Amino acid sequence: TDLDSFIAGLPKAELHLHIEGSLEPELMFALAKRNGIAIPYASVEDVRAAYAFSNLQDFLDIYYAGADVLRTRQDFHDLTTAYFERAAADGVRHAEIMFDPQTHTARGIAFETVIEGLLSACAEAEANHGLTSRLILCFLRHLSEAQAFETLAQAEPWLDRITAVGLDSSEIGHPPEKFARVFAAARDKGLKLVAHAGEEGPPAYVHEALDILHVDRIDHGNRSLEDVALTDRLAREGMTLTVCPLSNLKLCVIDRMEDHPIDRMLEQGLHATINSDDPAYFGGYVADNYRAVAAARGLTRAQLATLARNSFIGSFLPPDAVSAHL
Ligand code: HPA
Ligand code: ZN
Repeated sequence: TDLDSFIAGLPKAELHLHIEGSLEPELMFALAKRNGIAIPYASVEDVRAAYAFSNLQDFLDIYYAGADVLRTRQDFHDLTTAYFERAAADGVRHAEIMFDPQTHTARGIAFETVIEGLLSACAEAEANHGLTSRLILCFLRHLSEAQAFETLAQAEPWLDRITAVGLDSSEIGHPPEKFARVFAAARDKGLKLVAHAGEEGPPAYVHEALDILHVDRIDHGNRSLEDVALTDRLAREGMTLTVCPLSNLKLCVIDRMEDHPIDRMLEQGLHATINSDDPAYFGGYVADNYRAVAAARGLTRAQLATLARNSFIGSFLPPDAVSAHL
């Protein structure tokens, strides 16, 4: 339809994408075969059938298990290249890609293997599609502060090629405050900071991400809307929220897409953006996310253009590059 092509044609940045979450079942099978690994699924359909989640933890268990097929630098390269192909087709001009090194180093895969595979794919995407990218190293919040520090130390040789650190995995019971010192250390090294907050966790976790971690963006942030003072503050400070509609639906943050708060966020002055989070697991890439909320909430082209514009403004590109995209 007209609206579909309008959405695909909108230049956009993707700011909330876990590269491990872009592992499609077909590639999972191909990598399992290439690496001689047995996987607990009989077919691609069988894998897709397992992707029915009632909450974040249900998803995380399957997502960490799926990542086991990623073993070599070539695997990480192929995974990332597959994402870029889909992103380019969706009108993505710039992507800020999260990766979870601890998911791999815990299995004996070297940090170097992971990041060099990602970096070679990033260079190719820029050469082949003009698609620029940045990397965001995420700490798994269910692991300890000491393990996060260890991961930051492993990243040291690549810090000039890592733009930010983030915080993901099981939110409830692992408040931002747990990572105050490692985020301060990352900030001292010149890294930008993001954190998942207010996806399942309470508004208090968003407050902590702002006041204790001093983040530059909030990932998700949906539950901020429960706190009027917090909502006003986020709007006043121009804080970017990286919202993920299909993720919200699949992880039961909302019951129906018709209930998605994206347009209320815009009305309240929040700098919301649309992102895919874990597209292979949640049923769609970034343009699918725009289409899903556009249909369910009757978004106007002006609102969709605002969301796309917000994605460049909220990116970690330098101001001249942001202006060039607007
Ligand atoms: N939330 C927390 N951790 C994650 C997510 C998410 O949406 N996706 C991948 N890791
Ligand atoms: Zn996420």
